[in-house]
Amino acid sequence: MPDLKTPLLKGDALRERFLALDAFVLAQQSVWREKPFIQQQLHWETQLPELAAWLRGRSLADAEASHTNLCSLAAPHPFPHWAQQAEQLCRVGAFNAAELNARPLRMQSGIAQRKWQQIEAFASAMHSDTQHVLQPTQRWLDWCAGKGHLGRYLAWPDAQLECLEFNPELISSGQAISQRHLPQAQHRLCDVMSAASAPPLQSCDAVVALHACGDLHTHLVRQVSLQQTSTLALAPCCYNRIQAEHYQPLSSAGKNSKLQLDRDDLSLPLAATVTATTRERRLRDQSMAWRLAFDILQRQVRGVDEYLPTPSLASTWFNKPFALWCQDLAALKKLPAVPEQDWVQLEAQGWQRLAQVRNLELVRGIFRRPLELWLVLDQALFLSEQGFSVTVGEFCSAELTPRNLLLLAQRL
Ligand SMILES: C[S@@+](CC[C@H](N)C(=O)[O-])C[C@H]1O[C@@H](n2cnc3c(N)ncnc32)[C@H](O)[C@@H]1O
Repeated sequence: MPDLKTPLLKGDALRERFLALDAFVLAQQSVWREKPFIQQQLHWETQLPELAAWLRGRSLADAEASHTNLCSLAAPHPFPHWAQQAEQLCRVGAFNAAELNARPLRMQSGIAQRKWQQIEAFASAMHSDTQHVLQPTQRWLDWCAGKGHLGRYLAWPDAQLECLEFNPELISSGQAISQRHLPQAQHRLCDVMSAASAPPLQSCDAVVALHACGDLHTHLVRQVSLQQTSTLALAPCCYNRIQAEHYQPLSSAGKNSKLQLDRDDLSLPLAATVTATTRERRLRDQSMAWRLAFDILQRQVRGVDEYLPTPSLASTWFNKPFALWCQDLAALKKLPAVPEQDWVQLEAQGWQRLAQVRNLELVRGIFRRPLELWLVLDQALFLSEQGFSVTVGEFCSAELTPRNLLLLAQRL
């Protein structure tokens, strides 16, 4: 349910919240940086033996049932304390949805229902009465537009729309769809990271970006400031898709922080799988249990007690029997010959490790949303420093998309 009682974050609250999150994630970084999938034993387990033993004793189903509900988990200290702190620090209001004119039903055709609902929610959040943002917008720019569904929704029926995208197939199908519903729309082949994205940012009234990844959204935030764009609405995604080794903070509070986030850390906010189907989950579980079993095996075969990264594998690999899968993966990794094993037992150990890993990962899970909000607030604070009025809130429920934070900025 959207949280309409909690205020949206704006003004001084942006900085206050950022600093509180910064202190929280820094204080516990030795805990959330450790990776149960890679490390058979975590350092914090010796300091918190009761919590570690409790988590290790739980089943895979227990972990699955808890991972979206960490606050109510009756785990030993300090788990509940951290979970409550995180919950409080991440409480962000929801944009008050505006009633928009219904779009013709035919505009939905070919768009997954979930995507359409995200678009409706994004558009109505932009027009919510808590915003002083939108004087009627005449020229919309959709950044990393895909087929331009969001931009077309916003510009319908008679505003201008330019969609920037670098996948030619998405551009031509987007243009074909626009031909039917919004013929004035322009779908342009453009690498938004290049100088070619500057003129559209200068000439639009508002730029929107739904789920633009890593560098694509931080670049947008910087460019909106440089190119004098007046309005931005951004729902960021895939924070780890960056070229640099580490996240480069934008705001002065971010630059002053001691928190250094590498690409691995930046993938932590993305780990929730609320939108995966049952089949996707089953495949993911099998893949992880087998890889954990392989990890036990490779440590034996190499005589080195260290994790060995394995490549992503086509799903057809998982149609093989477990023993053959292990042998083929060992050959792919050029390991010494694998001696005959009790394969049934090894596979069972993999599943047991998976249950432990998933339960230990619940601790990391506490820090997912705080890290995500830290990142979004860094970008919000940067835009405030650059003379924008900025609001951060949720534009839809986490069930619709876990990447449900929206940053709205308007040049003052
Ligand atoms: C996660 S999708 C989001 C698409 C769309 N906004 C939506 O919500 O459906 C990200 C899009 O960014 C595009 N993209 C990636 N890198 C790009 C670049 N350098 N320039 C322009 N578009 C890019 C991808 O092709 C993809 O369509």
